[in-house]
Amino acid sequence: MFAFEINPDTPTIERWDEIVRAAGALVDGEPDAIANMANVAALLWQFLPDVNWTGFYRLVEGELVLGPFQGKAACIRIPIGQGVCGAAARTRKTQLVDDVRAFEGHIACDADSRSELVVPLAHDGRLLGVIDIDSPYPARFDTDDAAGCERLARRIAAALAG
Ligand code: SME
Repeated sequence: MFAFEINPDTPTIERWDEIVRAAGALVDGEPDAIANMANVAALLWQFLPDVNWTGFYRLVEGELVLGPFQGKAACIRIPIGQGVCGAAARTRKTQLVDDVRAFEGHIACDADSRSELVVPLAHDGRLLGVIDIDSPYPARFDTDDAAGCERLARRIAAALAG
């Protein structure tokens, strides 16, 4: 059993520090990428308030394919360059979207989603996929969330490289 807890009042930067620490403890020594993504998706779901989707899209044969996640059933395949996830994969840059309805090409998987944070995952220069987090509230994510999720991506990338 793994028991991770977080105080609901924890500020954003410390919250991400806790997520990174817990994720590291879960993935270290475990070579199965899918198992690791599943646990990290669950941690994000447990530790982040006001989210309706947390999970992964994996780069498989040149397109993004749905990976382990928490939330409602989602789009399975996303071409590189399409939607927020595809933009993160194409540019290899974090996408912080305050209002998904204003994002050209946003792919609505869950009609409740209003803001979104997508961070590319890469290891040794190879793109592995993206971390995707959605919220039903506009502008839920800020630059501290983006930086925290980027720390998470760096910490877990080797354990997801398969
Ligand atoms: N909205 C995303 C698609 C994935 S779902 O949010 C889970 C996008 O535009 O890439």
